[in-house]
This record gives sequence, structure tokens and C-alpha cells, in this order.
Amino acid sequence: MDDTYLPNEAKIIERIHEGPGIFTLRLQFTDPKINEAYTFAPGQFNMLYLHGVGEIAISIVSDPHSDEYYNHTIRVVGRVTRGFEQLECGDCIGIRGPYGRGWPLEKAKGKDVVVITGGLGCAPVVSVFNYIINRRSEFGTISLMQGVKHSSDLIFRERFQRLKDIPNIKIYVGADKSDMHWPWYKGRVLDLVPKMELNPDNTIAFMCGPEMMMKAAVEALAEHNIDETDLYLNMERNMHCAVGHCGHCQYGGQFICKDGPVFSYPEIKELFAKEGF
Ligand SMILES: Cc1cc2nc3c(=O)[nH]c(=O)nc-3n(C[C@H](O)[C@H](O)[C@H](O)COP(=O)(O)OP(=O)(O)OC[C@H]3O[C@@H](n4cnc5c(N)ncnc54)[C@H](O)[C@@H]3O)c2cc1C
Ligand code: FES
Repeated sequence: MDDTYLPNEAKIIERIHEGPGIFTLRLQFTDPKINEAYTFAPGQFNMLYLHGVGEIAISIVSDPHSDEYYNHTIRVVGRVTRGFEQLECGDCIGIRGPYGRGWPLEKAKGKDVVVITGGLGCAPVVSVFNYIINRRSEFGTISLMQGVKHSSDLIFRERFQRLKDIPNIKIYVGADKSDMHWPWYKGRVLDLVPKMELNPDNTIAFMCGPEMMMKAAVEALAEHNIDETDLYLNMERNMHCAVGHCGHCQYGGQFICKDGPVFSYPEIKELFAKEGF
């Protein structure tokens, strides 16, 4: 029997509250053999199945080699994510995956890495960041840019504060609108790109978030003469099968579930940020 669509049972080991309507589930497969054999790359995603409710795509945010658990950070937006929010430690869900093509971390080794994320959708790059921090000497300067609409939208607040103290990491956080205690940049974080010192011959950029923001980021990085082939974007579309069968995530001649979700800019340039695609 073809078991492509059959999820494996996983147990919630820990549930971490990250902010209003945002939580992280630490999971482990109940079958130790599956748990041991399970590997993934930063940027890949799993399909999470909630019994009797439905199945959704969620990025894997943990470091693939750090421990025997793997983490998913979920933001409540609708029916299935609301269902996941009700779960507690010890509850079981279904998992199939990992799916998709992740970030080109081998290519990034030895380079300066710029990570740009927008809105609340930073989950796909959290794994990349964890990966780099845990192998700090293998990468050059890291610039992390996070933009939010309002200062209250910023999650992982303490993590940003902690990261500021690590050598050779530059943190840029900006909020279009902010309260008076906001310690970061007041305005569009991408306004800061022209002021960054970037070496065009040795810089690679990873982006994720709303497409219009990524478009503006691509344009700003082009002003630094960073080659298009060194710009990588995480694309997000509604997914069903996750294996290139159903066509729900089709993007021109490609399927975001299996050819992406991470693409180099030249691979998607023709359709990128065009209405209707
Ligand atoms: C590859 C991939 C990785 C993802 N990783 C994460 C993650 O790490 N954490 C996380 O919280 N979410 C992630 N998402 C988004 C997540 O899959 C959706 O939020 C989820 O499917 C919503 O399900 P729901 O039933 O709760 O909401 P629904 O009731 O289906 O929808 C509620 C609202 O969310 C919108 N929506 C639904 N699915 C998507 C989607 N895929 N992209 C954008 N908007 C959508 C709908 O248009 C609607 O406005 C990812 C999506 C993809 C494709
Ligand atoms: S989700 Fe079915 S083809 Fe991509």
C-alpha cells in the first residue's frame, strides 16, 4: 500500500507559550525507531494532523542535530491551528514529513549571512538561525533583520535581546508603529538596508515573510550588488498533499511543496510578487 499520506503518531513533550496566540510544541514520535531514523534540514516542513480536524503545513524550527525532539512554532489563525492550541503535554498528533527543499546552508558556509524576516511569519528561518548559532565558526558575520507592523507583534523578544550580546551578530529590528518603550528602530526595518556594510562578493541572504516585503528586500540588496543567485526566499502557499500530487501549491511550472519552499531568486523571478500567482 502507498503510505505517502499516512501520518506517524507523535507525542507532545512540552508546550511553550511564545506570545498571544503563538506557541511551540516539542514533539517526539511514539515509535522509537521512527524517532531515531527521523532527519530533516533547516527550512523543511512537516504536515501536522489533528485527529478529526485537519492537516496543515508547519515549518520545523529546531536544529536537526541538537536533541531527540523537534519543535514547531504555531500561530493561531483558523480552524486547525485553533485545535492545536487546545492540546497539552502528553497529547498525540499525526506527523508526516519532512517535506520540501530547505535553505542552502552548505553554500552559506564561510559567507556573511543576512536573514530578513517580516511580520509574524519568521518560523521558516528560525531553524536556520539556530543552525548557524550552534556552528558559529563556520559562518561569517550574521545580520538578522526582523520587521513587524506593530511593536506588540514581535515574538521571541528576549531572544533578540540575548542575540545582541553574541559577537559578530548584528540585530536590526524595526516596527512601522511602536509604543514609547520600543528599544529598536522606529520605522520600516528595510530602511536600514542601505546603511548596512555588506560585502557583495561574500554575502548570501535568506528571506521570509510577506511577498511584498521580500520584493522590497530583494531590491534593497540589489543596490549592494549582491548577486541574484545569492538571494533565497521562502514561499508560502496553501498546501494539501505536500508531495507534488494535488497542484494546490503550483507556482508556474513548479510546486512550492516539493521544489521549494526555499527558492533562489532567479528560479522564481518571473512570477514573484505578481498578483494572481
Ligand atoms: C511550507 C509552510 C510552512 C508553514 N510554517 C508555518 C509555521 O511554522 N507556523 C505557522 O504558524 N504557520 C505556518 N504555515 C502556515 C500554516 O500552514 C497555516 O497558518 C495553516 O494552514 C492555517 O490553518 P487553519 O486551519 O488554522 O486556518 P484556516 O482556517 O485554513 O485559515 C485561516 C486564515 O489563514 C490563511 N491561511 C491558511 N493557510 C495559509 C498558508 N499556508 N499561508 C498563508 N495563509 C494561510 C487563510 O487564507 C485564512 O485567512 C506554513 C505554511 C506553509 C505552506
Ligand atoms: S501541496 Fe499538493 S502539489 Fe503541492
